[in-house]
Amino acid sequence: MRQVIGILSMLLGMVCSMNAQELNVIKLVAPAKSGGEPLMKVFNDRKSDREFAPDKLNPQDLSDLLWAANGINRADGKRTAPSCRNFQEVEVYVLLPEGAYVYDAKEHTLNLVATGDHRGALAGGQDFVKAAPVGIVLVADLSRFGGQINEQVKLMASVDVGIVCQNINIACAGLGLATVPRASMDEVALKKILGLNDTHLLLMNNPVGYPKK
Ligand SMILES: Cc1cc2nc3c(=O)[nH]c(=O)nc-3n(C[C@H](O)[C@H](O)[C@H](O)COP(=O)(O)O)c2cc1C
Repeated sequence: MRQVIGILSMLLGMVCSMNAQELNVIKLVAPAKSGGEPLMKVFNDRKSDREFAPDKLNPQDLSDLLWAANGINRADGKRTAPSCRNFQEVEVYVLLPEGAYVYDAKEHTLNLVATGDHRGALAGGQDFVKAAPVGIVLVADLSRFGGQINEQVKLMASVDVGIVCQNINIACAGLGLATVPRASMDEVALKKILGLNDTHLLLMNNPVGYPKK
């Protein structure tokens, strides 16, 4: 009897730890790397939207968006966004109602950083942001430059973040999603939530959702 109980509790433990792992890592579906709207139409459609439908992004749109933002598009590990000397210092954080995640480009997964809904910290006084089902925060990890953190490093990191941000803006236009590039946010609160330090610059963010009908 004792043996049976032991085996049952071992099995229960395995199921629980599998569930915990599944919650901690969201495996994104493979990105659709062809098709979409014609390029020049996408540029024509690009605009800032500040109203969102309440619907969650479907898994394909979320995957395509993150891959377009800063995914890996070549066998050598380089990205959809260029970066200064290929430092690849821009991290893409994703705020969902259930938790804050960091995008792992190599695995094409979202890895849990903090549970709970932290979209309020993204709003920074603009309440419309809380209505977007997805909040993307672009963070430059200046330690990747490998030396002294000076104005030149911050400038290059800002350019790199701007490029990822524009990838998001263009991807949203092409995928029929609504977004606005933003500099406003509660940086202090977000740094704490995301476990970041002084070498991290929170530069831009994009609330994303479907357009409000
Ligand atoms: C660097 C930068 C920071 C911005 N910050 C904010 C912001 O904090 N809040 C906001 O509502 N819009 C913000 N915007 C969006 C601009 O207001 C918007 O791009 C501009 O009004 C032009 O409109 P369009 O994007 O529709 O062409 C920002 C845009 C940029 C490029």
